[in-house]
Amino acid sequence: MDLLAALSEAWTPGPRLAARLGVSRQAVARAVRRLARQGYPVERSRRGYRLAPGTPAPAAVRAKLRGRFGRPYRYLGTVSSTQDVLRRMAEEGAPEGTVVLAERQTAGRGRRGRVWASPGGGLYFSLLLRPREPLERLPLLPLAAGLAAARAAGVGGLKWPNDLVVWREGWRKLGGVLLEAEILAEEVTYALLGVGLNVAEEGLPPGAAGLWGFFPGLRRDELLVRLLYELERAYRALADPEALLKAYALHSTTLYRRVRAEWVGEPVEGVAVGLDEGGALWVLEASGHRRRVTTGEVHLVEKVRR
Ligand code: BTN
Repeated sequence: MDLLAALSEAWTPGPRLAARLGVSRQAVARAVRRLARQGYPVERSRRGYRLAPGTPAPAAVRAKLRGRFGRPYRYLGTVSSTQDVLRRMAEEGAPEGTVVLAERQTAGRGRRGRVWASPGGGLYFSLLLRPREPLERLPLLPLAAGLAAARAAGVGGLKWPNDLVVWREGWRKLGGVLLEAEILAEEVTYALLGVGLNVAEEGLPPGAAGLWGFFPGLRRDELLVRLLYELERAYRALADPEALLKAYALHSTTLYRRVRAEWVGEPVEGVAVGLDEGGALWVLEASGHRRRVTTGEVHLVEKVRR
């Protein structure tokens, strides 16, 4: 019985679902409970059953998709990490543009080995890419994805390299991007671009913020479709790094600010003055030295020390 496909945002009485699926009302009730246990946002009332408004269920998403990304689209309840599910699909030959989205993750991961908390009500997905760009362009991909997230969210800015942050009594994180790539003989076989956006605010860890705090009731299906469209646009822009970096700079919260970075164990402090073609950050130290930070953690320093 494919109850998930039979459910929509409209309340449907249990007996109608039972008749449509050719099962008993009790079987429908049991299947609904099972879906809820698996992490799907199924709601129940006197009027019957429905999916929470804005659920990125396949029918809703497919009807709204505007580009290539999101085809095929796999919608899941609870998984360890969408990166793991998509990796298996990539190994089996899934095409570029494949998306795996889960309602919850039990082992969501972030950059630098961190945990990505994934309570219900967020947007957690992985996108499969098979880039034909030279390997040197790969570091620009997370920046491009961050740009897409900032454009789609319509709020917040990018803390280098690709954290979507917003100021609300301190910097808070709205979303982030994780790139995992399979490289063979200097060629990218595939890249898994994992995107996490906080939407609902409930259950978020300290230091995080959800988009509903800015746009109450924002629909997750529409946000996903917008983001996939922006990802496709930013992915195409990899062919022109200069234009991509200019667009990125418009959304940056790091450029032209005082930053403190840690790079290969050494602290670097100064003003972030630019990005290079590899996506690295140039930091101008008080000594007049320019340092190139390619990885590591960057903190925005609020007060200019004298
Ligand atoms: C970060 O800011 O550290 C990156 C966070 C990336 C989280 C997303 S959620 C979907 C995908 N699956 C994961 O396990 N991680 C990414």
